[in-house]
This record gives sequence, C-alpha cells and structure tokens, in this order.
Amino acid sequence: MSFKVSEHVTWVGKIDWELRTFHGEELSTHRGSSYNSYLIKDQKTALVDTVWGPFAKEFVGNLKKETDLSKIDFIIANHGETDHSGALPELLKEIPGTPVYCTANAVKSLKGQYHEDWNFQIVKNGDKLNLGAADLVFVEAPMLHWPDSMFCYLSGDNILFSNDAFGQHYATEHMFNDLVDQDELYGEAVKYYANILTPFSKLVEKKINEVVSFNLPVSMICPSHGIIWRKDPLQIINKYMQWAQDYQENQITIVYDTMWNGTRMMAEEIARGIKSADSQVTVKVFNSARSDRSDIITEIFKSKAILMGSPTINKGLLSSIGGIKEEIKGLSFKNKRAAAFGSYGWSGESVKLLTAALSEAGFNVLNEGIKEFWFPDSEARENCFRFGETFARGL
Ligand code: FEO
Repeated sequence: MSFKVSEHVTWVGKIDWELRTFHGEELSTHRGSSYNSYLIKDQKTALVDTVWGPFAKEFVGNLKKETDLSKIDFIIANHGETDHSGALPELLKEIPGTPVYCTANAVKSLKGQYHEDWNFQIVKNGDKLNLGAADLVFVEAPMLHWPDSMFCYLSGDNILFSNDAFGQHYATEHMFNDLVDQDELYGEAVKYYANILTPFSKLVEKKINEVVSFNLPVSMICPSHGIIWRKDPLQIINKYMQWAQDYQENQITIVYDTMWNGTRMMAEEIARGIKSADSQVTVKVFNSARSDRSDIITEIFKSKAILMGSPTINKGLLSSIGGIKEEIKGLSFKNKRAAAFGSYGWSGESVKLLTAALSEAGFNVLNEGIKEFWFPDSEARENCFRFGETFARGL
C-alpha cells in the first residue's frame, strides 16, 4: 500500500492493524498503529523514516514498487527508536553507503541498536538539505521524546514531518484527519500525549513556540504514527499547547485495587461524597487490576485530582496499584491534587505508603488519607462519604 500525500510526497509506511501493546507490554494500543514512512521525490529523492523491524522485508519490497532503490539519494532518520528505524538494516543492505541524515544522538542510538557503521551525516538545528526545487530543513527536538528526536520541514509542499510528536497509535485506512472519527482520533492523540509526552511538557511548549516563531507556512503535519493532519493542521499544535500546560478538566479519578471489596466500598462511598459536594464534576472510578493501565493514566492526565486506594498486604500495596504508582512517578504530572485510602486488618501501612508515593510523584496531597478497619461498617462508610465531600470542597 502507498498513497500520495502531496505533489512530491508519497506515504510508503505500514499500517499495523494487529498491534495491541507497544514498548513491550507497557502501553496499550487498542486500535493498532501505523509506522509512517514518506518518500519525497524532487530532483533528488529522500526517504523520511522507515518502519518497525518485523515489517522490514515487506517495506523494502513495497518501496521498490515506488522507486528504483538506487535512486534514493538521502535517508532521513528523524528518530532512532526501532519502530521507525527497524527497516534500515534491510534497506541499507540493498543500497549500502546511502547517507543517513540524523542528529548526533541518533548516531549513538542507531549504532547502539544495530552495531553498523552506516554513512551517517549529522545535522543540527536549522541545517538545510537541498532536494532540487525544495529544501528539507532540520529541527532538533531533543527529548520529544528521545534525546535523538528531530523534525524536518519540506519547503514548497510546506510539510512538517514531526515523527512521534502529534502522532497517535491509530490504524485506519483513511490516514487523514478529516476522514476519520474525531472522537477516536482525539482519544488516541491524548492517550499518546498522556502516556509518552507528559514528562517533557515544558520542552513541548518551548519547541512549539520555537517552530511557530519561524513563521513557516504549514500545509500538513505528517507524524510517524497514525493519521496525517491536513485539515487545519494547527489544531493539533494548539491542542499540544493546552496539554503541555499542566492540562486538566473538571474531573476527579479514583483508582483502587481490592481483595475482598473493602477498599472498593470505600472508593464508591468517596465517589458518592464527591458528587454530593459537587454535582458538576466528572468522577471516574477504576479498579486498577481490572482496567487498562494506559487508559487509567490518560484519565489521570485529564483530572484535576485523584484518589488512590489499596488495602495493606504484607505491609505494602496490591501489585496493580504498585504499577500505577511507578508510572505516575515517572510521568511527573503537575498541578494535580490527591489523597489516599484503603482498608486494613492488621498493620495498615498502605495509606501512609500511598500518601508518600503521591507526594513523591509531585501531586499536591491534601490530607493524610483515610483508612478503615476490615470491612467498612455503616459508620466507616459514612466516614468515607464525608471524606469524599471534604476532598471535593477542598479543591
Ligand atoms: Fe514511535 Fe519513539 O518511536
């Protein structure tokens, strides 16, 4: 499969309908993904990124239908991660010596992964590569989301190849933003941002401001996953600016795990208390052992406050809450409030542990949390209800 993106650009990537997890088993991809590779034909021919390794042979075979491989003058590796560089070994076996344009950090990551000494051409911010009538302009974008990441901009067709930024794990045969279901598209785009880009929000904001300051016309944004933004492409840039600025909606998310439903009952009473204090706020409740972790992270991203609950087991937390605890620490959410809860039978450390973990993860912890003995009786349930009310009123 291939399709025309613009006068000079053809999409030559791979739609991966089957993909259900990414980064090993870390990130769920309910709607599959795509690995977008772009062939630019001017007086010179350039290839921007490739596809994930398992599809390398198929990719090279399809590419041969679009061009004689020997006509490829330049390969651009916007990012070294293997979902975009995975077909380089297969391709460069066919056209050895073809220059690979990338950042200095990408040379390190590509050599580290493939142990090959390809013809690397290191580019820096603002460097240009002339293709004939048009130029490719390179924009380094370190930590969006790897040290080696960069964008490139094609003059003439006015296309920004943004690699992971503005992408989504979203397999669709339509491949353009104006042709797909907007709720699906934005659901995947925000999930991608929440789970991958949140820790780098300050850099996202800075890079967008820098790119906007160039005053370059942008007709399309071509990311390396998901659809191409051709209708009002600045809409996703504006969204990223909102998401990068400590984004929150009027939502509180309650995440818990439970052994014999004691902590579940606490969660539900807390949710009732919140609603009693604030009928407008959206309250979402997840059992972390029975819900998708990446989806929970997306809901936390959208929240102004969270409550995390676990009973105490072996002086610690249930393991699904342990996983969430680890993720939120790394994601460095900002401007979110929090509290902890949990039931206990003997030692009862969980609430203290969760309170400390939320604080360490950068949440503004509003109180010491609430713990209830064994299975909450009517008085304990009332305590939880009041706890939810007080929490909501304290926001
Ligand atoms: Fe889509 Fe960071 O690779």
